[in-house]
Amino acid sequence: MDCPSGHELSEFANALIHSRQNTSPRRLAEPGPSPQQLQAILGTAAAAPDHGQLQPWRFVVVPKAQRARLAEVFGQALLDRDPNATQTQVENAYEKAHRAPFLMLAVAQLIDRDGQTNPAPESDAPYSESTEAEVTDLERLVSFGCAIQNIVLSAHAAGFGTGLTSGQALASPQLRALFDLHENEQAVCCINIGTVTRHKPARLRPTVLDYVSELN
Ligand SMILES: Cc1cc2nc3c(=O)[nH]c(=O)nc-3n(C[C@H](O)[C@H](O)[C@H](O)COP(=O)(O)O)c2cc1C
Repeated sequence: MDCPSGHELSEFANALIHSRQNTSPRRLAEPGPSPQQLQAILGTAAAAPDHGQLQPWRFVVVPKAQRARLAEVFGQALLDRDPNATQTQVENAYEKAHRAPFLMLAVAQLIDRDGQTNPAPESDAPYSESTEAEVTDLERLVSFGCAIQNIVLSAHAAGFGTGLTSGQALASPQLRALFDLHENEQAVCCINIGTVTRHKPARLRPTVLDYVSELN
């Protein structure tokens, strides 16, 4: 795809990136993205860096009609961890599935240790095609994070707020069963999208010097 370039685009990209902030799903109200907006937003995941082009991630949208099933899983996972959880705590767990207008589960696909293929023979080519087994879990997770960031920034550019939510319920057997997760898959977080009802103050961000050094 041809890409416009220049000062204005650079200013826009920087402003977009720096103005994004995580919004709690409690502060995400209707309207959520339209089907057309969603297609554009979700399509940006495909532009994530992806060593070996494995696409080591997938996303599962949970439409409103299915939220009760996710709520049930959140509630049950809490009760399994803490059988003494109060009614309020359980209701709070249920509610997490219903807050944002749009919610989807982000699933990382790590090395499939059962179906693992052998590394490719040595090649003289400067950039040989990587086999699945050569791309480590860390590399896969980097691609996964980039895909999420693309989605989040695209939603932000379209005027929506986004919030990532995780928690112990995502590793529960009930959730794994509900989303039919394969052994090499891990549910990492939910991506919530909606219209921000109340902005939070910008947080103090680290400076370049905090995280960049020079080899000497
Ligand atoms: C994988 C992942 C999971 C997250 N899970 C939660 C969560 O469960 N609850 C929450 O309040 N924020 C969650 N966040 C959002 C972070 O708390 C948020 O990004 C951080 O506070 C920095 O704020 P900012 O994104 O506005 O810069 C998660 C972020 C990531 C990357």
